Amino acid sequence: MTSPSPLEHALPPELVSDWEALNSRWQEGPLREWLEALPDQFSTGLSPARYGDLSRWREALAALPPLPTAAIRLNTSRVGLSGTAPDETMDALHSALMGLHPWRKGPFELCGLHLDTEWRSDWKWDRLADAIAPLTGRRVLDVGCGNGYHCWRMLGAGATEVIGVDPTPLFILQFKAVQHYLQQPAIHVLPMTLEAMPEHLHVFDTVFSMGVLYHRRDPMAHLASLKHKLAPGGQLVLETLVIEGDDDALLEPNGRYARMGNVWQLPSPGLASSWLKLAGFNEVEIVDVGVTSVEEQRRTPWMTFHSLEEFLDPEDPTLTIEGFPAPRRAILTANVI
Ligand SMILES: C[S@@+](CC[C@H](N)C(=O)[O-])C[C@H]1O[C@@H](n2cnc3c(N)ncnc32)[C@H](O)[C@@H]1O
Repeated sequence: MTSPSPLEHALPPELVSDWEALNSRWQEGPLREWLEALPDQFSTGLSPARYGDLSRWREALAALPPLPTAAIRLNTSRVGLSGTAPDETMDALHSALMGLHPWRKGPFELCGLHLDTEWRSDWKWDRLADAIAPLTGRRVLDVGCGNGYHCWRMLGAGATEVIGVDPTPLFILQFKAVQHYLQQPAIHVLPMTLEAMPEHLHVFDTVFSMGVLYHRRDPMAHLASLKHKLAPGGQLVLETLVIEGDDDALLEPNGRYARMGNVWQLPSPGLASSWLKLAGFNEVEIVDVGVTSVEEQRRTPWMTFHSLEEFLDPEDPTLTIEGFPAPRRAILTANVI
């Protein structure tokens, strides 16, 4: 056995395998620039000095029990592993995964353990899966991917490489818990924002930005940055909170929206389309619009904090607790030449 290189020694242990895989895959072309920045980004993104809970989450990861070999499920609503395991193993699995609470995006299932997350993220997937360019053979970027639930679905849909980025360290470790069992070499969830990536890459065939646009103070800058990640002929899949209204309707909550901070601008679907055209995208299509239900986002044993029901006006659930229109979401697709 060879001893680790000084670089590997400095990397967060969870990300050494990502570094090794990407280092061998990205030697050529524009991704090399990003490769050079990765070690610093990994160390900052999972820094124990910045994130006091990291050691507790690491203990949870280390406590994951071995599971019997079973079939990997990527194309079902519950991503995970089939099969069964003895009760003691399942108890250990339950307790290790609960150490990574709250689980927001999913669902997952491991040997019969149903990780019933706050969001039925599979419903979002079902709304977009047939409306986007087929992912077979494509290199995909998922910006703000959370714990990577949709990244697994993208891999299951045939993508050859899936890169998710998200700045929230708990979500990276949740991804690692699932990857611990699924062991798929072509999927990586990396701890960083979109803005931390090299601006001009032009290498991804499909870029997803779902649930991120309204968190950005400058939505046009976000769209421009997404465009710069797309290869010629590539497709953007944009999902965002919207409001009902004319093609120029815009809500600026100026404070909290459904108890969320950092919500800057909610356009109408028509205005979101105009933004995409202004940013230089072509063939812009609104493929879905709908109100988020309390069946889709709700408290579960795996996410025991308040959820959508508590964020709505108890007298009038068509309004948020602050009196704004209740969450409505749109999915748009747009292409680059
Ligand atoms: C509402 S969640 C959406 C998760 C997932 N994409 C989905 O649609 O279910 C937004 C995610 O974006 C991440 N995020 C926030 N700002 C970001 C940024 N500047 N770049 C990348 N991700 C960001 C957050 O950590 C969070 O996990």
